[in-house]
Amino acid sequence: MAKLLNIIVACAENRVIGRDGGQPWRIADDMKFFSARTAGQIVVLGRICFETWPGADHDGRRPVVVTRNRALARPGVAVAESLTTALAVAESLPGDIYICGGQRIYEEALALPQPMRLWLTLIHAEIPGDRYFPEWRHLAWRETHRHEGQDANYRYTFLTLERLEDMRSRDRE
Ligand SMILES: NC(=O)c1ccc[n+]([C@@H]2O[C@H](COP(=O)([O-])OP(=O)(O)OC[C@H]3O[C@@H](n4cnc5c(N)ncnc54)[C@H](OP(=O)(O)O)[C@@H]3O)[C@@H](O)[C@H]2O)c1
Repeated sequence: MAKLLNIIVACAENRVIGRDGGQPWRIADDMKFFSARTAGQIVVLGRICFETWPGADHDGRRPVVVTRNRALARPGVAVAESLTTALAVAESLPGDIYICGGQRIYEEALALPQPMRLWLTLIHAEIPGDRYFPEWRHLAWRETHRHEGQDANYRYTFLTLERLEDMRSRDRE
């Protein structure tokens, strides 16, 4: 049986996740959460995310980078030309699968017909940006956890949402 897909993202109310190749915010709580969650696991990510995250292969993480550039492969770093191939590679590795973006990878992952868990840090602000998380709010999810946080700049909610096989029939238009 395929592993559960974990999708992990921080996004603003207007679904912005990135700007100019980086994150438009710096939320220490969220960075700590993301690092702890993905440590020791398989992280599936696009080439830009990989190149801009020096810690991608630290703390026991096993990156599977989606890219046409096979030269990025090295011991401990796998590459794949599509999300489908990346997920096949990830299935063969030990650990849980965490989809870490960017935009197209999130879009393709969210559309997959398999059980998934969304680790969402929802930042309660409309933030300008140029990369987006796909709309998820119209899909049927079961909320299994939430806690609130805030720093000097933002209020945010850590949400864990599950989308199991039997929930597809409940998706709204
Ligand atoms: N807030 C968050 O939680 C979060 C999470 C992730 C990313 N971000 C933000 O998002 C931005 C980076 O993401 P991005 O969307 O610009 O780039 P990206 O997905 O990291 O990288 C894009 C590249 O990855 C490859 N690629 C991506 N999806 C592919 C697919 N489905 N099939 C084949 N190849 C694919 C291609 O590589 P090649 O050109 O090498 O073939 C493409 O040029 C940054 O601003 C970052 O801060 C934010």
